Amino acid sequence: MTNKLELYKCNICGNVIEVLISGDGHPVCCGEEMVRIEPKNDSLNSPDLTEKHSPIPDGDVVRMDNHPMEDNHYIMFVQAISKDKNEIMTKYFYPSDKVEMLTCIDKNDITARSYCNIHGLFVSNKENL
Ligand SMILES: [Fe+2]
Repeated sequence: MTNKLELYKCNICGNVIEVLISGDGHPVCCGEEMVRIEPKNDSLNSPDLTEKHSPIPDGDVVRMDNHPMEDNHYIMFVQAISKDKNEIMTKYFYPSDKVEMLTCIDKNDITARSYCNIHGLFVSNKENL
């Protein structure tokens, strides 16, 4: 069973997928079940990391201030998600990009998440996802 907006990764080829519509089955890639990517939060379960990974909803913008954007370590994408999960915005980044996304989702109703190529998925508000 999957849930809307869960992310899954294939540990063989590196594919990452997002569930748009949930179903009873489990995603499979390269002949094996994919692994659900559990969201983390800087303050709850990654205090040992020096750089911050949780994106910051800030008015009409989602941004990140303190994470490397280098060829071997960078934020691959950021998402803004409404509380009811019916509005989702995604922006992809390249190394050296500034991590900032303009969003039209109600700023009082937003959860943001980011995906680091090394450290995985982080959320701004763990209760909402
Ligand atoms: Fe990272």
